[in-house]
Amino acid sequence: TNASGARVFTLGIQSGETRFKAGSATRTWGVNGTYLGPTIRARRGERVEFAVRNGLDQDTSLHWHGMHLPAAMDGGPHQVVTAGATWRPRWTIDQPAATLWYHPHVHGSTADHMYRGLSGLFIVDAEDTEEPRLPSQYGVDDIPMIVQDRAFDGDNQFEKRVPLLGGALGVIGDEVLVNGTIGPYVDVTTRLVRLRLLNGSNARLYNLGFSDDRTFTLVATDGGLLARPWNTERLYLSPGERVEIVVAFKPGERVELRSYPSEYGGTLGRINGFDDRLDICQFRAATTLSDSPDIPSTLGAAPDLAGEKAAQERSFALESDKINGRSMAMDRIDFGVRVDTVEVWDVVNDNGFMHNFHVHDVQFQVLTVDGGKPEPHLQGWKDTILLPPGKHFRLALRFRDHTDPNMPYMYHCHLLQHEDNGMMGQFVVL
Ligand code: C2O
Ligand code: CU
Ligand code: CU
Repeated sequence: TNASGARVFTLGIQSGETRFKAGSATRTWGVNGTYLGPTIRARRGERVEFAVRNGLDQDTSLHWHGMHLPAAMDGGPHQVVTAGATWRPRWTIDQPAATLWYHPHVHGSTADHMYRGLSGLFIVDAEDTEEPRLPSQYGVDDIPMIVQDRAFDGDNQFEKRVPLLGGALGVIGDEVLVNGTIGPYVDVTTRLVRLRLLNGSNARLYNLGFSDDRTFTLVATDGGLLARPWNTERLYLSPGERVEIVVAFKPGERVELRSYPSEYGGTLGRINGFDDRLDICQFRAATTLSDSPDIPSTLGAAPDLAGEKAAQERSFALESDKINGRSMAMDRIDFGVRVDTVEVWDVVNDNGFMHNFHVHDVQFQVLTVDGGKPEPHLQGWKDTILLPPGKHFRLALRFRDHTDPNMPYMYHCHLLQHEDNGMMGQFVVL
């Protein structure tokens, strides 16, 4: 804690070597280590301050994905931290409990910087500890899982030139890492386990499910808890999205969390890697498990923007490397939104490939998908959504405060190669 009462976190971005497998170590980047970074944890209402030191020999940045904060603190392409410099963003945490994350966001280099290993989780806790009784012992029955794919070359270095459709999606790796570990497993000691899953991959879509097709319970999405738990056997997770799921185990059992083939691959499925069946993590339950409280039947506050009158409607069509026919330009603000009004954004993927859509500063509500009610996993607060080709999503957004006519926030496809290629735009809150 510093003199102004803020909790101070020191984050050093560095390069190094990480041993993922037998043979050579891999040249990687990390935060306070050589690969990935620490889980940051802060409570709603808390004042936080960061010392982000760039120990690399090139510019980078750290963006707080999913966080509601002033644009100047956002860590996007306008908050580059030059080599050797230290950046000190500060803000007050002002949003419900959620699993957020941080990663670099330098225009044109985001894919490269993240692929080398710069990412970490940022968990926001509720003000009040009497939140619904979900498993919450970090690392015991509340397990963070950063899921990433990587391709290794013959010398164990990260392969970057994976020639898929001339690089249309960027890298799709054939090995899955969880928290930087190949072939991970979790020793389960409690009846219920909560998994906080982040798709920290550059481009790969996961269709999550268990090897025995068991039902698991979705309790939270990007912006926090759902109003009610939802039971399912499969769940898509596109790059940048998070989910919190609760899984029930029986003593002594073993089960694998997997990614199953996607329905979105089409004829290009094989080459896109969408038809892959990949094991993500094994769960090994002890022969006796301590009991866990049942999942509460009500969880968080449901999004409440649907009944509001929209002050402004906008449309966004994602095409190849462009949004509404325009490529990202650092010196062009695409539009301004009026503070504390509700906007409705109609978003469509007008391109045959997979895209998704992420907006900085807010958590939004999905009003409709192709005119109908969204599925339960889209009924909570979201900051990133998968856009299957041709589907129309209507989103409601309210930018509550933090006006700044000069400093923009970003909206973009979170397939990092697309973002770097220009599938991104900028807006200010006025
Ligand atoms: Cu996760 Cu604009 O980013
Ligand atoms: Cu973001
Ligand atoms: Cu895209």
